[in-house]
Amino acid sequence: MHNMSNLADTPQSNLFAARHGHPKLLLPRSEPFYETALGATYLGDSQELLGKLPDSSVNLVFTSPPYALHFKKEYGNVSKADYVEWFLGFAREIKRVLTDDGSFVLNIAGSYNPKEPTRSLYHFKLLIALVEEVGFHLAQECFWYNPAKMPVPAEWVTVRRIRIKESVEYVWWFSKTPFPKANNRKVLRPYSADMLRLAKKGVKTTVRPSGHTITSSFDKVANGGSIPANVIEDAIAADMLVSGNNAANDQYTKRCKEAGIKIHPARFPAVLPEFFIKLLTDEGDIVVDPFAGSNTTGAVAEQNSRRWIGMELVEEYLRASQFRFGD
Ligand SMILES: C[S@@+](CC[C@H](N)C(=O)[O-])C[C@H]1O[C@@H](n2cnc3c(N)ncnc32)[C@H](O)[C@@H]1O
Repeated sequence: MHNMSNLADTPQSNLFAARHGHPKLLLPRSEPFYETALGATYLGDSQELLGKLPDSSVNLVFTSPPYALHFKKEYGNVSKADYVEWFLGFAREIKRVLTDDGSFVLNIAGSYNPKEPTRSLYHFKLLIALVEEVGFHLAQECFWYNPAKMPVPAEWVTVRRIRIKESVEYVWWFSKTPFPKANNRKVLRPYSADMLRLAKKGVKTTVRPSGHTITSSFDKVANGGSIPANVIEDAIAADMLVSGNNAANDQYTKRCKEAGIKIHPARFPAVLPEFFIKLLTDEGDIVVDPFAGSNTTGAVAEQNSRRWIGMELVEEYLRASQFRFGD
């Protein structure tokens, strides 16, 4: 066991751990792989580990599981045909461990059918099963916009030019009950120049062709920021396209390279868990990522004073993920 509490040891984070108890107390029979002031990682199969967590003990499960690709990524993927069945085992445990006002946010990508320029429905089948078989509520469908995605499959997109480039992944927000804890005031965006100009000029009461009255829903600029859309953009990836700046320069990748350790091949950007952690949890709440990979979720949770648990099957990924927590 590696104790990293000195690494993320701020008076504020210690205060939270003391007030609410360290999350490792939720798994008293399992040994953390490493721990910080507010969180712990566990090496192993997350279906088993989730099974050891008490009922209604987790406020948010935020995760990106291995996708069902028809080619194998290095960390292993389940075939599309078996994917829904495979995932439901985890999903039932996730539902059980969530508090009644808790949320489960799932990042998943669509994919092409083998040898054809047509799209698979596997992820939509999963969505329906999560609601109709497991009993989750679909709170909202959101998207991760990543303009730096590769133009694949090359055969359809760059060679034959008969399909266009994918640039979004799904981020599905499920909840245990119809009214999960959520507050969009915590994720307000700066007002756009247009919005500020409109507010200055004054908005005339107009009725849109849809019958929607504009003034009644116009968000006053005095409300602290504009309500975000359900598209979360990876600004670093966008910047990389324009300026050649490389997101790979962050602390994690830099230190992996220095140490000669393999960088996790399928990380999501910190903005993704950060947005939902802020929207759906309060400081001190518990966030779990059962497919932690390089532990982006845990690191973001720690920075935002949430307690967290990360579970991962591959030791090498967990070992490298410690780089996210300083020296
Ligand atoms: C898409 S990656 C997650 C990457 C992560 N979001 C990040 O930013 O680094 C999925 C991870 O799930 C892990 N995994 C697959 N099956 C697992 C299982 N049964 N229990 C725990 N982890 C598992 C894989 O090893 C892989 O690292």
